[in-house]
Amino acid sequence: MNAATQPETTDAAVVVEQLVFKWPKGDTVLQGCSLAVPEGEFWMLLGTNGSGKSTLLRLLAGLLSPQSGEIRTAQPVGFVFQNPDHQLVMPTVGADVAFGLVEERLSPMQVRQRVEEALTAVNLLAFQRRPIYALSGGQKQRVAIAGAIARHCEVLLLDEPTALLDPDSQLDLVIQVQRLVKSRGLTALWVTHRLDELNYCDGAFLLDQGSVIDAGEPERLKQRLMQIQEVASESNRVSN
Ligand SMILES: Nc1ncnc2c1ncn2[C@@H]1O[C@H](COP(=O)(O)OP(=O)(O)O)[C@@H](O)[C@H]1O
Ligand SMILES: [Mg+2]
Repeated sequence: MNAATQPETTDAAVVVEQLVFKWPKGDTVLQGCSLAVPEGEFWMLLGTNGSGKSTLLRLLAGLLSPQSGEIRTAQPVGFVFQNPDHQLVMPTVGADVAFGLVEERLSPMQVRQRVEEALTAVNLLAFQRRPIYALSGGQKQRVAIAGAIARHCEVLLLDEPTALLDPDSQLDLVIQVQRLVKSRGLTALWVTHRLDELNYCDGAFLLDQGSVIDAGEPERLKQRLMQIQEVASESNRVSN
């Protein structure tokens, strides 16, 4: 771990300290995992398949509980899944964004304002009455993000949100999230294994064997991930 590149945790919107997590019947996934995402920044989480990235995001979102360690995040937290069809539940764009506000007991006027503001932020205001099924994958992901913005989320957690998108929508989405983080002062943690997406973040973490083994400059992390991917594909080749 390069301590010089890790921010002071007091300025961080997401802090994980010495986290330990194991599945009931499985191996330990996270073992002494620590990281801090500075407030108002866009960071990415890298690691090979099965290294625990999705598990860590679920812990951050409170969907799982760790055996030990500490998690602190600014609230509320919004989650964007890899597959938007697992997330969007209402028939139309506007209804889906409004659905996320049900627990806040707002007036119909406040709900309408929140929905319109959030859809404007992701450039989908004109799509408010469109059925979800008529949207592209990238547009669906933007509806999911609008849901988080409508709830006034401080932190956005995105688990491989571009995995099912074509290359153009993939880059559109990462650029849009970068812009939203800067314009709205959000903090985002984005899981990816796509090296080109690293060009848009402020920093990245590399997860390996249960803990963060490197953090900081996207370009340096990119080189390191490339080496790891080469080693992994070489050992696959040898074992097959
Ligand atoms: N629901 C589950 N029950 C038991 N083990 C799981 C479950 N989900 C994932 N795992 C295991 O946890 C480890 C980390 O998985 P995951 O967090 O999905 O990795 P990544 O997102 O980095 O590919 C893997 O060994 C995986 O098989
Ligand atoms: Mg995953």
